[in-house]
Amino acid sequence: MPTLHPNEVQQKASPCVMVIFGASGDLTKRKLLPALANLAQEGLLSQQFAIIGFSFDQMTTEAFRDKLTAEMKEFAPSSLNDELWKWFVERIYYVQGDFGDSAAYQRLKDQIIAVEKNHSTQGNRFHYLAVAPKFFSPIVRKLGEAGLTQETNLNWTRVIVEKPFGHDLESAIQLNKELKEILSEKQIYRIDHYLGKETVQNVMVFRFANSIIEPLWNRTYIDHVQITAAETVGVEHRGAFYETAGALRDMVPNHLFQLLTLTAMEPPISFEADAVRDKQAEILHAIQMPTPEEVLQNMVRGQYGEGVIDGQPFPAYRSEPNVAPNSNTETFVALKLKIDNWRWGDVPFYLRTGKRLAKRVTEIAIHFRRAPFMLFRKTPIKDPRTNQLVIHIQPDEGISLRFGAKIPGSVMKLGLVNMDFDYSRDFGTSHSTGYERLLYDCMVGDATLFQRADMVEAGWSVIQPLLDVWKALPARGFPNYPAGSWGPKEVDDLLERDGRAWRDIEAEEFGAKIPAAVS
Ligand code: BG6
Repeated sequence: MPTLHPNEVQQKASPCVMVIFGASGDLTKRKLLPALANLAQEGLLSQQFAIIGFSFDQMTTEAFRDKLTAEMKEFAPSSLNDELWKWFVERIYYVQGDFGDSAAYQRLKDQIIAVEKNHSTQGNRFHYLAVAPKFFSPIVRKLGEAGLTQETNLNWTRVIVEKPFGHDLESAIQLNKELKEILSEKQIYRIDHYLGKETVQNVMVFRFANSIIEPLWNRTYIDHVQITAAETVGVEHRGAFYETAGALRDMVPNHLFQLLTLTAMEPPISFEADAVRDKQAEILHAIQMPTPEEVLQNMVRGQYGEGVIDGQPFPAYRSEPNVAPNSNTETFVALKLKIDNWRWGDVPFYLRTGKRLAKRVTEIAIHFRRAPFMLFRKTPIKDPRTNQLVIHIQPDEGISLRFGAKIPGSVMKLGLVNMDFDYSRDFGTSHSTGYERLLYDCMVGDATLFQRADMVEAGWSVIQPLLDVWKALPARGFPNYPAGSWGPKEVDDLLERDGRAWRDIEAEEFGAKIPAAVS
């Protein structure tokens, strides 16, 4: 088992009240409550803690407690025993109201004051906006009017805003402006749940805690980088939302850019929030803005038709509930980006994400330059591209380094083998929901894993040219990939044109033991 560093004894989160807007929705039962239970179990939640649910549904506090008690039977982590749940239930309250109704915010304020007294939460509050984006700004405005956003020297107020943060560059700028009329930047915690994933946080540790990695991490040794976030699910019950978003908006300026910036950023001078975020922002600013011609050449969009995944048939996107039968919304996108700085000049970053693909997998694959091949010229070995470092984000969690080795025998034959680090084997299985660290960080005032206004805007700036070109030239020929494939054909052409190919994820599964001969 790994050894913990002595400094890693964590402090408890500050006393506080958490107000969940949209508390009757999915996020509360699936992620927030289970994550809070895990934090309590680890001893990281203050005893002086309480939750107030706020939403439109008619319910009393008792009914809300009963609802959550029933839901936790399905969604609770194994750490939630009866005793712990009893402790939780006693500190859960409910306020019913319309997000636009000032009177409801007065009721909320009265409840907060009562709860603060009951649970000695010391006046610290954080509001979690688990609501549709159109409510972000109105809720913050109403909170401000009700005097629920003020801070003093003795207590804090923070607001967690879910994604999507804006719909394009202009709306993101506008939303930032509206929020900052009421809140200061340091009160705003823009969440991206990818940053709650252990494997994503580990990218920084892996790069900066190991002296063997950093010297290789640049254009001298790296040929290109592939970032994949493939899903087998379709749009599920979110057709209406997805029709207005599409794969580009839904996944790229947020989740994929987190993976990209953590992979590409310069070492920060500390793990302080702004030190890290400055370095991430630098990368976003260094991405070359694609011209309209480059958008057409280097960016691929797709939409799934019907198909089969793991033997099960699935309908086309256009037949999903709440999707227009002639929809042109993309469910797949692949892009080639260039980061124009000294570390990465001329190293392409290929990104791809899509729904209803062949396999659920998120990974960052670093492809190193090939070694000089002269020595092997007279052997049956044909392909000199051997070295890949793959950071497996999900569902497998770990890192593997692929290299060439001689296959035993009297002829010189090259096999590809992996050195693997496997999170669950080496650290034990984690029951984390991915929200623990983010909620905890908000309670201790650490914004490192949250998005700053300028980062959100820089992310949108990069994809705005795509949004513009795609709007002007609606896709033709959708659907263009069957469910269960790896996307449209053009996505392979994108790399082939550069003399490269996508990593064959299915053939090179994490932990595969049999060396694949390349000769
Ligand atoms: C969400 C997107 O932000 O991330 C979804 O809106 C997507 O469409 C999801 O399915 C992917 O998250 P994860 O953690 O399952 O990779």
